[in-house]
Amino acid sequence: MYRFVFTQVLSRFDPEDVHHLTVGALRLLSVTPVVKRLVHRRLAPRDPALRVQAFGVHFPGPFGLAAGFDKDAGCVEAMSALGFSHVEVGTITAHAQPGNARPRLFRLVKDRAIINRMGFNNAGASAAARALGRPRGVPAVVGVNIGKTKVVPEAEAVHDYVASAKELAPLADYLVVNVSSPNTPGLRNLQAVELLRPLLQAVKEVADSTPRRTPLLVKIAPDLADDDVDAVADLALELGLDGIIATNTTISREGVSSTATGGLSGRPLKARSLEVLRRLRARVGDRLVLVSVGGVENVDDVWERLLAGATLVQGYSALIYEGPLWAHRVHRGLSRRLRRHGVRDLREIIGRTAT
Ligand SMILES: Cc1cc2nc3c(=O)[nH]c(=O)nc-3n(C[C@H](O)[C@H](O)[C@H](O)COP(=O)(O)O)c2cc1C
Repeated sequence: MYRFVFTQVLSRFDPEDVHHLTVGALRLLSVTPVVKRLVHRRLAPRDPALRVQAFGVHFPGPFGLAAGFDKDAGCVEAMSALGFSHVEVGTITAHAQPGNARPRLFRLVKDRAIINRMGFNNAGASAAARALGRPRGVPAVVGVNIGKTKVVPEAEAVHDYVASAKELAPLADYLVVNVSSPNTPGLRNLQAVELLRPLLQAVKEVADSTPRRTPLLVKIAPDLADDDVDAVADLALELGLDGIIATNTTISREGVSSTATGGLSGRPLKARSLEVLRRLRARVGDRLVLVSVGGVENVDDVWERLLAGATLVQGYSALIYEGPLWAHRVHRGLSRRLRRHGVRDLREIIGRTAT
């Protein structure tokens, strides 16, 4: 049904217009208590075998919505009701900013991919804090992903991230330092260990000072050289971070015909994202929580990531091609597969094929 609507209707409109329309509809769902609760009851993961605990937070399932869809934390409840076990909001910057000029979002339908150069369009940390502070009518696990305000020079990046962390860490189930988007000039330079160390130290101090101690993760790019992946992993261990999210979008255009600038996501990212996960797991074992994202389309992909050592898995691009029941279907499929394999607890399979 959704595939028909997508090919016949949605794919004919500008992708960003469709996105804004969708977010508007989801916001409406979020403010309609009865419908929201009904949808949640029907679609949210409920099988106890799917439950997973990571950095002290309980997730109703392993599969969540990656950052970038809900930039301003406006549809956390709706996306949770639709079956995502967690919603990572953002990227949020200390100051509101419009992002890059449109068009900045492109569908590569044949490749099952997306290219975006949104550039962290968002209403800023204070607006997000107001949205996150509102009481919720359905349970939701919320990660908050923070990034650098574009006009802030690299030399003041630490201060800028700390400003966001101060506003948002108390409202987050976990906090993510995003240093891997290709659409903010210079941002990915912050992945170099000598710049990343003081940044993560400063944000961690803020995250540690909240009443519940907010878990802290760092999100990395798939374009890092393997040695740099290892270096970030070692740094995360050294600083006592809670986890790593791998990966963001890629600047590579391998296997796709479009040369539009921006970050590529979806199916073409699958192999590299899995490769980075395997590398991280080999390096850190189970000492850090690994969150795998990039090219995840179905239950087979989620299964593969769990076996390779991810505790949580996220997706975004396939949502555009699969529609609103996607997360529900993934969790339902996973639930069936666990039963078939006689698995009662996800911990039995996480990292089982890791070397
Ligand atoms: C339109 C779009 C916007 C995104 N914006 C962000 C963002 O603001 N912050 C971030 O950390 N990742 C962002 N991402 C990256 C996703 O969170 C994810 O890491 C990446 O798309 C790979 O997953 P996928 O292949 O399932 O889409 C964005 C992705 C897309 C497609």
